[in-house]
Amino acid sequence: ASTLDPLSDTVDFPLGVAIDQRETVGAAADVLTRHFDQITAENHMKPDAWYAADHTFTPSAQATTLMNFAAANDLRVYGHVLVWHSQTPDWFFQRDDGTPLTSSEADKEILRERMRTHIFSIAEYLSGTWGSFGSDTNPLVAWDVVNEVVDDGSATADGLRRSPWYQVLGAEYIDLAFTYADEAFNDVYADPSTDRPVSLFINDYNTESGGKQDRYFALVSSLIERGIPVDGVGHQMHLNLGVPISQLDATLDRFAALPVVQAVTELDVPTGTPVTQPGLIEQGYYYRDAFRVFREHSADLYSVTVWGLTDGRSWRDDSGAPLLFDDALQAKYAFWGAADGELPA
Ligand code: G3I
Repeated sequence: ASTLDPLSDTVDFPLGVAIDQRETVGAAADVLTRHFDQITAENHMKPDAWYAADHTFTPSAQATTLMNFAAANDLRVYGHVLVWHSQTPDWFFQRDDGTPLTSSEADKEILRERMRTHIFSIAEYLSGTWGSFGSDTNPLVAWDVVNEVVDDGSATADGLRRSPWYQVLGAEYIDLAFTYADEAFNDVYADPSTDRPVSLFINDYNTESGGKQDRYFALVSSLIERGIPVDGVGHQMHLNLGVPISQLDATLDRFAALPVVQAVTELDVPTGTPVTQPGLIEQGYYYRDAFRVFREHSADLYSVTVWGLTDGRSWRDDSGAPLLFDDALQAKYAFWGAADGELPA
């Protein structure tokens, strides 16, 4: 794989990959730095990754390793994720005595303050160690500020997931997350000579389909109309071979009408099981066609991130070899397709 032309050279947008520290050494690191411009921590910058068991803010060695790896290899870091309902310590939603927070005004204030402290602690740490945001030494360029806030069904009037954040703060928590993140990453800890160095994203899955897309679009439109500092819309794109490519195109077209950039944040496309040679070839064509759509949308795309480097490391490997490289780090048809190269008939 080390002799292939860089995949990132075939596209006009930054190409990202989700990793942990296993991909920062050896042959995996060689493949990564050859083909990608950007990394995301698959797990180690999520809310629970920043705290010790006693609740104290304690950055993980993994987050530090990933930042150092990016800085040393001229890679951008796309942060994932500041505010989420999953992989978040239970104590976020409890009073100090362990009882659950309610939607009382006093409890709302506790959770607002907790969110603000969480976001500011991360910004203080990442700028304190790698320099202010926007400076040459700090590789961080973006955050998923909120993740998966849209409801999967149409049961709720406002289309929002009834997460623990929502149950205490209501829809306000989304506005607050962007406002605090903007203050911390683009003002207090930013290089004064830069303008909004850290792009702030909302991120969700199944945004390429029907009702979920409508709810997502309505939410993003409302954030923009109300002046909430959102820079970008993330489409996770955990796809499969049955999702029509035209749907990806239509999704990017629709959101391009809004004054935001877009990112494909967690791309993977399993073949289904068992994994067969024809399935891997079909997957190659799927990646080819998806990347052709992405290239057509280069002007709107902040980045495209693949959710893992090698199949065996994917959360969806059980659904059939979803990524661009196999476990021997060999480029698959999926890679050749993404590069718009030759595929078997
Ligand atoms: O760290 C522990 C380890 O100590 C323990 O031995 C091991 C045993 O199961 O578990 C490890 O934690 C796992 C973690 O990944 C790190 O490998 C968790 O069980 C596992 O649930 C977790 O899965 C992650 C998942 O998010 C959790 O929500 C996946 O790796 C990660 O790919 C996935 O990523 C999410 C995005 O953040 C948001 N969008 C959907 C996407 C896929 O679910």
